Amino acid sequence: TITREFIEGLPKAELHLHLEGTLEPELKLKLAQKNGVDIGQTTIEDVRKSYDYDSLASFLAVYYPGMNVLQTEDDFYQLALEYLKKAKLNGVRHVEMFFDPQAHLTRGIAFETFIKGYHRACVDAAAFNVDAHLIMCFLRDMPVKSANEVLEMAKPYRDMILGIGLDSDEHHNPPLKFARPYSDAASQGYHTTMHADIDQVDSIEHIKQALEIIEVDRLDHGTNIVENQDLVDWVNQKQLGLTSCPLSNGFVTNDMKGKKIVELMEQGVKVSINSDDPAYFGGYIADNYEALAKKYNLTAAQLVTFAKNSFETSWISDFQKETYL
Ligand code: HPA
Ligand code: ZN
Repeated sequence: TITREFIEGLPKAELHLHLEGTLEPELKLKLAQKNGVDIGQTTIEDVRKSYDYDSLASFLAVYYPGMNVLQTEDDFYQLALEYLKKAKLNGVRHVEMFFDPQAHLTRGIAFETFIKGYHRACVDAAAFNVDAHLIMCFLRDMPVKSANEVLEMAKPYRDMILGIGLDSDEHHNPPLKFARPYSDAASQGYHTTMHADIDQVDSIEHIKQALEIIEVDRLDHGTNIVENQDLVDWVNQKQLGLTSCPLSNGFVTNDMKGKKIVELMEQGVKVSINSDDPAYFGGYIADNYEALAKKYNLTAAQLVTFAKNSFETSWISDFQKETYL
């Protein structure tokens, strides 16, 4: 049987992690008090109780207001460093972390403030052997013009950002809406990924747009391709990575989607296991591996395959990959 020690000891890369989704009730309350921000709760218990949702929309309604406590460069640094220390304990060696510039810019925080705090945490994580990188996400429920502006704003910090992503509410916000900033970003040398799927009505159509028209380098979620053999063949032929988040799926869709995840893996798709928003969805990456292993009776060999997939589909150099695989 699979032990916790085995899962934590398995070297892993985490490829689907929202930094703002690592805001634990303790840090949220501490920063609220330090910065004089009214979050509507004054005890850890009440903050914890406010972490309550059963859909992507109801989650986002807790997630965005929570960010108000993040004000200074050091607040962003602390948030990221606390996550990176937990990642270390979970056996993470390499991580590519999402952050949401527009969620901070729209409340008056300068780009420089969050990028410098997050970047400093990445630099400091090297001291405890976690190789940390940043992926800048556009909010798909904001106008494309805003995404173009964010890409422009990021230019002075180009070397601090590994790739771009797309998150937030997918409904009525298809990948094609962002064709322009994605092609601009690719021409600036960014790697590209985007969220597509999570039981939206147009799931397969969105996945097709992301893969065939935007031509992303990786796909976040996307497990519904299992219903479409052509798409499975496409990602296999391109060796394209899919980042799955079982505990998050459980909250958002009432189904960890473990059957689909395992079936894709058995068909050779490079699926990885990730934590998405660990402070909000009940666990870090080892908890995700453990929940999946328990519920679907996975073998050690299957877990090793997920971990191997995570390094193989990461955006580190082939040379660096050799040291992990
Ligand atoms: N889905 C979509 N957007 C998000 C998420 C998520 O799980 N977390 C943060 N932004
Ligand atoms: Zn996500």
